[in-house]
Amino acid sequence: MYSKQIINGFSKYNKQAKLELIASRFDNPDLIIDELKSYWHDDAALQKLFDEFSENTITNFFFPMGVVPNVNINGRHHVVPMVIEESSVVAAASNSAKFWADKGGFHAQVLSTTKIGQVHFIWHGAKDKLRAMFPQLKRELLLGTQHLTESMEQRGGGISNIELIDKTADLENYFQLKVSFETVDAMGANFINSVLEESASILENHFTENEHYHGHEKECRVIMSILSNYTPECLVKTEVECDIACLRNADIDDPEDFAWKFEKAIQIAHIDVHRAVTHNKGIYNGIDAVALATGNDFRAIEAGGHAFAARSGRYRSLTEVDISNGKFHYSLTVPLSLGTVGGLTALHPMANFSLRLLHNPTAPQLMMIAASVGLANNFGAIKSLVTKGIQVGHMKMHLMNILNSIEVSEREKKVASAHFANHKVSFTAVRKFIIGLRKEEKIEKF
Ligand code: MEV
Repeated sequence: MYSKQIINGFSKYNKQAKLELIASRFDNPDLIIDELKSYWHDDAALQKLFDEFSENTITNFFFPMGVVPNVNINGRHHVVPMVIEESSVVAAASNSAKFWADKGGFHAQVLSTTKIGQVHFIWHGAKDKLRAMFPQLKRELLLGTQHLTESMEQRGGGISNIELIDKTADLENYFQLKVSFETVDAMGANFINSVLEESASILENHFTENEHYHGHEKECRVIMSILSNYTPECLVKTEVECDIACLRNADIDDPEDFAWKFEKAIQIAHIDVHRAVTHNKGIYNGIDAVALATGNDFRAIEAGGHAFAARSGRYRSLTEVDISNGKFHYSLTVPLSLGTVGGLTALHPMANFSLRLLHNPTAPQLMMIAASVGLANNFGAIKSLVTKGIQVGHMKMHLMNILNSIEVSEREKKVASAHFANHKVSFTAVRKFIIGLRKEEKIEKF
């Protein structure tokens, strides 16, 4: 039965009280408390750190962390960490990375690193007056935010531009301060939002504190100030290329036919939204997993990426293929606002480890790494889709999950793995096989 009672002040309960309250919603509260506690870290200090990453924490939720070896980007080999629960993603990225490693690898470049923040406001006065006073306001904004931008400037970043944007054609009296930022190796969300909120006060004070505007104070009403997760100017491109004949491998016996089908698959992902979304999801399988492993905000990255995919007015594939002059050329251009300092990057022990595994990359280097893994995953997906289909690989990888869900012994796992190396995997087939095995061995279970 669901309780209809409102829970007040839950965040103020101590951890034990939180656990007890949650457990009281089950028939067997003591077992539930034991279950939740079994996932606590043995090191109390570390557990406290994890608890404090979030709010109302009761336990940890484990995700596997794997690595993709052989990610050759601009001639440097990386072993890239991925945190993801979908079994075939790391395998697909690894296969593709190896496939391209001996064909010159990925060639990546960061096209730009600018991030945008906005102060959204309503201006009830005359447009001309706002335009006329903007140069003075801009000077006040730059000066008045200097205490916040100083240290970022010392690192080579800061505010790169402030523009007044007239949006009145879309919404009556609506204007924006569009502020462009460089945040160097930080994702920069807190920095940007602090600068924007300060800018909003400066904008309002410009009217309330300046005698010149007395009587006009209500002409400007700030609505909100926030960074934008749409980052089309924080952009990275990564590409692979080889002679079509070199595509031949165990899965590709006719490279010309493969290239033709591959090109059609990408064309379809450019014109059909149902396919395009799934196509791009496959790219984010890789990008998100690297973002998670390195303590980055994958929701922000995905939101911006999907908007970028729709920048022409139609949602399309983020990748482009070119088959010409006997060459296969495949590329991904994607906005990626990533950080390698600040946020969780240093605090989360595994994010910190991931960055060390990647030799402490700069943010632009991490953009190239994440994009290349995204392209690797997508290439792997399309390669499977236009050849043997994805289910063979997926279900092979899923075999362990099925075996674990029906509680088999380690020996049964071994026997089943050997059997399904050359048999079709499905839940029913695996269950049948284990029942058969147990009958043979006269073990009664199920
Ligand atoms: C599954 O996680 C991802 C794919 O569906 C991507 C695709 O269809 O391109 C295989």
